[in-house]
Amino acid sequence: MLFDPYKLKNISLRNRIAMAPMTRNQSPGGIPTNEVVSYYERRAKAEVGLIITEGVEVSHKASSAYPNVPRLDTENARDGWKKVVDSIKSHNGAVIAQLWHCGGFRKLGMDPDPLVPGHTASGLVRPGKRVAHAMTSDDIKETVEAYAIDAKRCEEIGFNGIEIHGAHGYLIDNFFWSGTNEREDFYGGSIEKRSQLVTDIVKAIRSSVSDDFIVGLRFSQWKQQDYEARLASTPEDLEKVIGPPADAGLDFIHSSMRRFWESEFEGSKENLAYWTKKITGLPTISVGSVGLDSDFIDMTAPASPSNIDKAIEDITKEKYDMVAVGRALLADHEWVIKMKEGRVGDVNPYTKEALFKLY
Ligand SMILES: Cc1cc2nc3c(=O)[nH]c(=O)nc-3n(C[C@H](O)[C@H](O)[C@H](O)COP(=O)(O)O)c2cc1C
Repeated sequence: MLFDPYKLKNISLRNRIAMAPMTRNQSPGGIPTNEVVSYYERRAKAEVGLIITEGVEVSHKASSAYPNVPRLDTENARDGWKKVVDSIKSHNGAVIAQLWHCGGFRKLGMDPDPLVPGHTASGLVRPGKRVAHAMTSDDIKETVEAYAIDAKRCEEIGFNGIEIHGAHGYLIDNFFWSGTNEREDFYGGSIEKRSQLVTDIVKAIRSSVSDDFIVGLRFSQWKQQDYEARLASTPEDLEKVIGPPADAGLDFIHSSMRRFWESEFEGSKENLAYWTKKITGLPTISVGSVGLDSDFIDMTAPASPSNIDKAIEDITKEKYDMVAVGRALLADHEWVIKMKEGRVGDVNPYTKEALFKLY
């Protein structure tokens, strides 16, 4: 099942394995270089079913928080992405761009405008730490428009779709989280209202791209600010978080976990991706230490290859539809082929050196 073709909306994927989005900080001036092109091409050639790109900064003045992250707001950046897309497609791959707004991870002094502070729902970057700018309605409107414009740009470049990065404590997750969203307007005050920002973004994107273009959302319970934080403690609450954006026109949801084998809610052994699929009926991607023998807490910690029987079993039982693989694919671009052929012993183990080289 895992290695068999899968249809995601209008595209036929050659298997159910996605490359997880991974920031590489190797695109000076926001422009993907030829090395970035080759990096993605290597994985498309080695049979990765769907490539989800590293986070691409949405074209908003406060989206950036890290150096050399790719963007979409210059012709050179878009030309760079076109090379990435064309090379992936020339190897029968499919590719989705992850759109990212860093929210409260931005600090004064950062590029592109050092005077622009981090933007968050209520000025909080974590519970109790109010050092960012609390977004006004105009800021929200501008941000929503930026997503719609960038999604259209992605469609024009030739991407098969986009994924909205709504996970890990960044802007959208800052709105989702009761610990950082203290708003009392349309965008806060209840669990449903904390989802309103992303629902607005999905609606705006849907009206700017064609019906065939894939629009997905990545979300997580965990945050970099707090691994134990949760948006929902019951399936009923989870429905309030992801139901509204799903109804606004999502095509898939990517449920980010640190350990995909862990149970999400008390009284059931199923994970977050299972519940996401059950609640929304949408195609769901499961992620978090797939094919590795240790969990995703510290990305610099080494991890050895392990088998993927649990993922295969879950997909066969239709608990979720795809798996995303991060570090294992950084360490070995031929991971898919080797796993398909049952050559676990040939897979290169993950070490932190993989973070620094773009191979
Ligand atoms: C170097 C690195 C960069 C990452 N960058 C992103 C990112 O840009 N967007 C995102 O949603 N997740 C990002 N993540 C998280 C991964 O997508 C994935 O969820 C995580 O690595 C767990 O999967 P794994 O255990 O298969 O590596 C990153 C992870 C790593 C290791």
